[in-house]
Amino acid sequence: QAQDAAAGEKVFAACKACHQIGETAKNGVGPELNGLIGRKAGSVAGYNYSAANKNSGLTWDEATFREYIKDPKAKVPGTKMIYAGLKDQKKTDDLVAFLKQFDAS
Ligand code: HEM
Repeated sequence: QAQDAAAGEKVFAACKACHQIGETAKNGVGPELNGLIGRKAGSVAGYNYSAANKNSGLTWDEATFREYIKDPKAKVPGTKMIYAGLKDQKKTDDLVAFLKQFDAS
């Protein structure tokens, strides 16, 4: 199986320090991540983004998200997200499968 959402939930544990997802998700250190794949960067209401993220002009389609999560500061210089990056291809596949389970709310 190429993508495994259950395995992706375990990968998401590293994101949970700062991000919530799911029906009751709220903004925290980082914005909530419902409906992320396909979402315009910097678009969550009520979240105080950096100018770098807000004005990146990116849309989190799958390819763009994959580049970003590999090395956030390379894709969005000046982002305030402190995360070294996810380099493992399989883990990234699983994470994307997990994220896709959550529609925008
Ligand atoms: C922003 C994903 C880990 C803090 C973002 C954005 C994405 C994302 C896609 C942009 C959201 C948007 O434009 O609406 C992830 C994923 C993670 C992860 C999938 C785990 C693999 C973390 C961690 C932290 C963090 C561990 C805190 C230590 C933030 C912050 C922002 C952000 C503060 C806002 C950035 C800005 O406005 O410059 N994250 N993140 N994230 N994330 Fe993460």
